[in-house]
Amino acid sequence: MSFVKTVESYRQGARTLPGRYYTAPDVFAEEQARLFGRHWICVGREAALAEPGSYVLADLGGESIIVLRDQSSELRAYYNVCRHRGTRLCEAAEGRLSETIQCPYHAWTYALDGRLIGAPHMHEVEGFDKKDYPLHAVAIDVWEGFLFVNLDRRAPPLAQWLRPVGDRFTRYQLGTLRTVRRIVYDVQANWKLVLQNYNECLHCPTIHPELSTKLPYTSGANDLIEGPFLGGYMEIKAPHVSATLTGRACALPLGALSDDDRRRAFYYALFPTMMLSLHPDYAVFYTVWPRTPASSRVVCEWMVHPDAPGAPGYNIADAEEFWDRTNRQDWHICEQSQLGIGSRAYVPGPYSPRESIPAAWDRHYLATMSAGASETRGTTSR
Ligand code: FES
Ligand SMILES: [Fe+2]
Repeated sequence: MSFVKTVESYRQGARTLPGRYYTAPDVFAEEQARLFGRHWICVGREAALAEPGSYVLADLGGESIIVLRDQSSELRAYYNVCRHRGTRLCEAAEGRLSETIQCPYHAWTYALDGRLIGAPHMHEVEGFDKKDYPLHAVAIDVWEGFLFVNLDRRAPPLAQWLRPVGDRFTRYQLGTLRTVRRIVYDVQANWKLVLQNYNECLHCPTIHPELSTKLPYTSGANDLIEGPFLGGYMEIKAPHVSATLTGRACALPLGALSDDDRRRAFYYALFPTMMLSLHPDYAVFYTVWPRTPASSRVVCEWMVHPDAPGAPGYNIADAEEFWDRTNRQDWHICEQSQLGIGSRAYVPGPYSPRESIPAAWDRHYLATMSAGASETRGTTSR
């Protein structure tokens, strides 16, 4: 793998986004339509839907989506909207359905494959045919054990979208990993601040003094430097062998890693809202959920080798605590950024060469938003 040094990808003149991108309800609404209504969005791990009937709700593009495993073990996703009078079918964020989904209002009942199978008194309606009223389906697919959904019927298949990432994660065998910790954070900051913050470590010496002893911020390089997938690696500073509080390994090694990989931590942002952190002995992934222009929810999961929890030396708390502290430091500074950016005094500021990845992320974001604008011209207000 050839790595390109961070500074070489720097473009002179890059500046941060104007304030309205972090505060304006109209920008937020456009993002919902142009990004979240059209992209493949990671909604969690396939393993969370282990049994037929298990479901989770996902909020994206201003929609509530039911993501479930049906009776034949197929993964399915549907708008959370009854075909009778539109009522939300599922209310709890996750759960286990029986063999059907029944609307809580007038009891229209759907099989988990989406067919309408019960509709009280509708047989008295001339011409009514249950076949005409299946649940509205949403595209769903899996990559490396991660579930993705897409509201756009014309979207390219997930595998095609992820082609630039290719097989670069194969050696970590992410599909086999097991989630052992999950923390949900509410952050009073725009979702883009969370992504931009993840994409640089210029802030590490000031915000994360403990992390900097394990992962020197000037170490490593980025190998994905333009487009929807961005990031690279940092060196784990010897004698430490992992990014944990103690610096010790906390679980069995992942996959089939080279000697270089065993000394490195990789950090990638997958546009728009997934972040993936790979260490020699565990992985962490984040999904970021915009709630309002100035607030987001971040779901963070720690994953290990499936045999790790029973193996000697297993101590996931060492990694959990390391990132939970780091996460909270990050969310706090993102919240402080949000407050400052909301000021009338804020104007876009210059990015340094150490912020080439957030600058590239902003370029991709703006290109995607304007591409979305040309596709929807005439149907939106801008
Ligand atoms: S709205 Fe769902 S059954 Fe009437
Ligand atoms: Fe950070």
